[in-house]
Amino acid sequence: MKGLGALLPAGLRMRLRAFRLARGHRRLDQCAAQVALLLSAAGRLRPQGWRIAELGCGPVPGHALCFHLLGAAQVVATDRVAVFQPAALAASVNHAHAAQVRDLLSPFAEHHDIRERLQALIARDGQVDPALFQFAVASTPDQVGRDYNLIYSLSVVEHVPRRELPAWFSAAASTLAPGGMMLHAIHLEDHRDPELSPFAFRSNPQYSFAEECERGNRADADELIATARQSGDVEVLWRWRRPGLAPVGDDTSHLGIMIRRP
Ligand SMILES: C[S@@+](CC[C@H](N)C(=O)[O-])C[C@H]1O[C@@H](n2cnc3c(N)ncnc32)[C@H](O)[C@@H]1O
Repeated sequence: MKGLGALLPAGLRMRLRAFRLARGHRRLDQCAAQVALLLSAAGRLRPQGWRIAELGCGPVPGHALCFHLLGAAQVVATDRVAVFQPAALAASVNHAHAAQVRDLLSPFAEHHDIRERLQALIARDGQVDPALFQFAVASTPDQVGRDYNLIYSLSVVEHVPRRELPAWFSAAASTLAPGGMMLHAIHLEDHRDPELSPFAFRSNPQYSFAEECERGNRADADELIATARQSGDVEVLWRWRRPGLAPVGDDTSHLGIMIRRP
């Protein structure tokens, strides 16, 4: 099946992948669960009225849509490439279990407000007023706007080439409003074989730039925290480990960090 897929035009392959994500782990209720983890780990944030940017949203920006449901004044979902598939985002809304979306998001906004916005979203087939929700091609939010109360990413930091990380963090931090913050959920394992060989790629001497972008940049948790500290005050929200597996560096598999503007 995989072999046949490679024969399809790239655009069609991308659309098919987006629809698979929309029915699977980027279905809106799945995204709501991840947003709930992020907001509760950061201290039960209530983002109503906030200006929010997502970095590296991918083809189905369901997380960004959750922030719209929570009453953000404006959400800009960005990615360095034009991956956004609006029809797949609509599918992610339509396949979701609406009550689960509402319940998961309810600690962070009024339940009846979430219900009203979700009903409107379903009635409009996943479309949102562009003044409230938009997609933009950008690597960092300074290319799109300023004064964000929250900038966040999920599984993106590990794809930023290692030598670009300090500039990437600081470009994003420079667009935060006073009191603003960044939240980053980072997956530090080798994306080619996270289960069986999560960290062996760190000792591979032949690792290319393309592999950094695809499999992961190989920065470990301590390096990421130290780099993030150059852009603000850092709090570690979670740090899950796989003891004994790392040949070099730290054995953290997943890291959640908050960076506040100093
Ligand atoms: C693993 S996907 C995660 C997508 C989405 N956040 C999610 O959780 O479904 C990584 C995404 O980050 C984007 N990306 C990689 N490097 C980036 C960079 N330097 N700046 C912005 N986006 C980047 C990729 O284009 C890709 O869409």
